[in-house]
Amino acid sequence: MIDYDPFADAIIGGDPHPIYKRMRDDAPAFYLEKYDAWALSRFEDIWNTSLDTVRFTSSKGTLPSQVLTKEQPVIPILNWVDPPDHTMLQKMFLPLLNAAAVKKQAEMMRMAVTEFLDDLSGRDEFDVMDDLAMPLASRLIFDFVGVPPSDQPRMRECVSLLFGHDPSDGAVTEEGLRAYEEMNAYCGELAESRRGWIEQPNDAVSAFFQYEQRIGRRMSKEEASIHLGMLVSGGSETIAKGVTLLIYLLHQFPEQKKQVVADPSLLLDAFQEALRYDNPTQFLCRTVAQDVTLHGQTLKQGQGVLLLYASGNRDEREFDRPDEFDVRRGKRRILSFSGGPHLCLGIHFARLEVRVLMEELLARFPDYELDVGRARKIKTELTKGFAELPMRLARGAA
Ligand code: HEM
Repeated sequence: MIDYDPFADAIIGGDPHPIYKRMRDDAPAFYLEKYDAWALSRFEDIWNTSLDTVRFTSSKGTLPSQVLTKEQPVIPILNWVDPPDHTMLQKMFLPLLNAAAVKKQAEMMRMAVTEFLDDLSGRDEFDVMDDLAMPLASRLIFDFVGVPPSDQPRMRECVSLLFGHDPSDGAVTEEGLRAYEEMNAYCGELAESRRGWIEQPNDAVSAFFQYEQRIGRRMSKEEASIHLGMLVSGGSETIAKGVTLLIYLLHQFPEQKKQVVADPSLLLDAFQEALRYDNPTQFLCRTVAQDVTLHGQTLKQGQGVLLLYASGNRDEREFDRPDEFDVRRGKRRILSFSGGPHLCLGIHFARLEVRVLMEELLARFPDYELDVGRARKIKTELTKGFAELPMRLARGAA
């Protein structure tokens, strides 16, 4: 008998892969009675569900706290609408986040990375997550949104509070929820304060105004707050966790690191492989919109569906040697950025940020050391990864 609960301590705090494997082999559509929902663990099923927005809707939310425990309300941001509304809404920030537009941000990102590394190179020890990955990700996303430098320190505090979960149960704290509200309200005020400027900088606030022109109506402060706020919360923690994971895995697998240092063109493949191997986003959800038969089971309209990305990314039906970390696996589809219409809108931004940071880090400090014994992992139901990972740069390095 398989005993699986996505919120169980053994899953959140431990290694879920043995049970994921059993689910893939013996119960690929696994019914969770407590939540009246199905857990899908095979790559192909998760991929197909993400593509099928007719039978599986995002409009009831995609977070476990929306679809399973039903504690969190659903607001009409990009993640939580279906086509055709989704297709329209996607046009708001896509002009700034498509591959060509993101490419233009490379120089600005390199300057920011260089500043961070210059500051840190004078220190004996620092924390990868707290001193590098998270502040860098926040700074880049704030600049992208249009948050002026003078307001960034407070907004950074809000992001830290939001993602600093209660260590005892992994839930977002009350303080974190207040910080989330403050951050979103700030984004609404920011857009209001920029109305009427003749020269608008090329950032997300301007993209929001251009979208208003496209749809022919002025949007409210609340709308500005949720759409711009989505970028801040979606574009900070996931990427910080992802790059910290890559730094960790390259340290743990020195042979793989050697290959990447010798050939930095492998960096993006290495990032992709890190996300496949240990996906920070364990799972997201959908809700059944029309009855579906899968593996002999009927998934009924209204029931929740848990997409176990971390399991699908280790599915032996999709990947050879799925439990090995191999930076030469090549370009393959993975589930870490989802797929179909809801494919992560920040994928190019995330990849560029990681490539630039890793190029600079490995060029200057290829022999970085991590104090893995003092690392601390965060325990939350949704994202896994490091909260702290102490790093030392090799003595005498640039
Ligand atoms: C390693 C970094 C990242 C990972 C692993 C990641 C992962 C994801 C995943 C799994 C989804 C899909 C949700 C679904 O199918 O329901 C998503 C959506 C999204 N992500 Fe990311 N993300 C990352 C970085 C970013 C960044 C840097 C930004 C902003 C610049 C961003 C903005 C978004 C947005 C706006 C969506 C909603 C897309 C939609 O529903 O159409 N993400 N992301």
